Amino acid sequence: MPAGAGTMKSGDPRLVSALVIQKVLAGRSLSELLPQYLDRLADSRDRGLVQAICFGVMRNYLKLHFIQRQLMAKPLKSRDRDIEALVLIGLYQLLYLRVGDHAAVHETAGAANKLRKRWAVGLINGVLRNFQRQREGLIEALEGEPEARYAMPGWLLHALQTQWPESWQQRAEALNSHPPMSLRVNRQINSRDDYLDLLRKNGIDAEPMPRVESGINLTRAMDVESLPGFARGCVSIQDGAAQLAAGLLGLQPGQHVLDACAAPGGKSCHMLEMEPEIELTALDSDAERLQRVSENLSRIGRRATLQQGDAADPDGSWTSQCYDRILLDLPCSATGVIRRHPDIKYLRRETDIINLVKLQNKILDTVWRLLKPGGVMLYATCSILPQENELQLQQFLSRQADAKEDVMDVPWGEARSVGRQIAPGEDGLDGFYYARLIKRAT
Ligand SMILES: C[S@@+](CC[C@H](N)C(=O)[O-])C[C@H]1O[C@@H](n2cnc3c(N)ncnc32)[C@H](O)[C@@H]1O
Repeated sequence: MPAGAGTMKSGDPRLVSALVIQKVLAGRSLSELLPQYLDRLADSRDRGLVQAICFGVMRNYLKLHFIQRQLMAKPLKSRDRDIEALVLIGLYQLLYLRVGDHAAVHETAGAANKLRKRWAVGLINGVLRNFQRQREGLIEALEGEPEARYAMPGWLLHALQTQWPESWQQRAEALNSHPPMSLRVNRQINSRDDYLDLLRKNGIDAEPMPRVESGINLTRAMDVESLPGFARGCVSIQDGAAQLAAGLLGLQPGQHVLDACAAPGGKSCHMLEMEPEIELTALDSDAERLQRVSENLSRIGRRATLQQGDAADPDGSWTSQCYDRILLDLPCSATGVIRRHPDIKYLRRETDIINLVKLQNKILDTVWRLLKPGGVMLYATCSILPQENELQLQQFLSRQADAKEDVMDVPWGEARSVGRQIAPGEDGLDGFYYARLIKRAT
């Protein structure tokens, strides 16, 4: 049971949201916290509201925080982060949700009572009522504050402006948009058209993705377990950009393939759906996440050799052989998938990037040794930062004489000095980067 949840007196969705956001503000992630807290709510509408509030508040955090600062003379003490969370939740509802202003103010302020902080009821009420009175002026003030206006930390805004000087606003808005629920059809079991028909017969609205053969976007998100054939592996959840990886590897029966950072196994499963006769080793340093690879493989009815270990370790047991194909889907800033993980904007610091780049560099050098001459490595990140993408690979190619780029002739993304960058929102996809490398036969 999550800390704090045991003392909850009710399943009040605003209170539950405040407890989650309070913990995110203290450094925990939404994807870690939400499943535990949602489990405590019996009503699916309450679960939907908590999800909408938590994602919405973190997506708009810098904007809401700016407004809050204008409305509160003194900042709250750090022990009152729960009250700060309630203020943000109230502002979010008034700005973005159609719950009715009275309910938004009254219910949100009332939640402070359930936290046994009666003193805060009047405070929250006052701040939210002041917002209603000063709304227009406050929204106007946002225009002069780009970080608040685009709800993006300065370093990330700067990165977007540098990469896409003509369209950075559009990219920022794409990162702040609500993502579709995206599916990957298992074409060993059904064609995409057949699965689209099945969805329609079940009353589920869906569209094929334009550039991704196995991809479908649902018009409305739904419980995965209710997707037809989900338990039998007919379909999985995966963004379209991530679905491009498997097709870039040129998989053939009998090939030895290493997925060096495999968990939770989205791309491992896709490779086996595309070519079931490969010998796949799925490696990840995180034992808990590796368990999810195992569950995903068993749902689609495929097998791989699972290994827990550090891909930068030159002596791990997986290094006793060489591979025809390597997928290197590295840990990264995840700046391309902010629409799916909006708390990244709050949790990630610019200084984290230096350490990530070092780790990527180390893994890349170590894993390269495991590629057979003539073999192919696909380098992938869900980052939009050149340091983690083309700059990383430029340096790698300059120090690794037996490596050369295998330029991809594909209709998506934009060519960089090495590899291709998919901009956030391009063709409705997450921001992603791919580069394909070949090892020269010496
Ligand atoms: C971007 S995710 C991989 C996503 C996965 N390829 C998929 O499609 O589902 C990066 C993964 O790298 C793992 N990781 C981080 N550091 C690692 C290391 N030193 N060695 C191996 N795996 C590592 C993380 O646990 C995480 O699961």
